[in-house]
Amino acid sequence: MSLAELSPAVLSDPRLAPLVAAAATRPTGSAALAVALAVRTDLWEPRIGFREESRWTALLEPGDVRPYLDPSLHAELADAQIWLLTWLPGQGTPLHDHGSSAGAFAVARGTLTERVIAAGGPGRPRETEHDLETGRVRFFGPHYVHQVTNRHAEPAVSVHVYAPRLTVMHTYRVDDDGLIRTGRERAGVDW
Ligand SMILES: [Fe+2]
Repeated sequence: MSLAELSPAVLSDPRLAPLVAAAATRPTGSAALAVALAVRTDLWEPRIGFREESRWTALLEPGDVRPYLDPSLHAELADAQIWLLTWLPGQGTPLHDHGSSAGAFAVARGTLTERVIAAGGPGRPRETEHDLETGRVRFFGPHYVHQVTNRHAEPAVSVHVYAPRLTVMHTYRVDDDGLIRTGRERAGVDW
């Protein structure tokens, strides 16, 4: 994405400065696509909704996003699946993976807290947790296990890119014996 393609309104909006800065670093692959879409508020602002009962999600079709993308940058992601998610304060996911999909997500508004589990050897897995403010992007490989929550006062919006398409997710809990799988969910139905 060229910054020259962004409207003056986007470039001059202080709330979007972190996203513009992230785009300027020219990330690659799924992260590039997530940032390119997150900074295009004209794409996602008219579409988003919020739900008190549960997180709100929408699948963006290729035709929805094509006008916002530079094909030379994103050709390898032609089959990627793109979700728009919103998070009211207190809303979050269970601990989950993305099956064999890799991808990236970008925080388009607000702040999300991500808990990441590094499972490996015996015993309790190592956990890390960090806040992701507007403009932050996380890339992940297959079988990455994390939990994402909005612990802040402001509603949050994020753009998620999965390649290949997300088909199944597993949920987990952590105990002293390790990472325990607790369920299997079909993509897009419940997360
Ligand atoms: Fe996830």
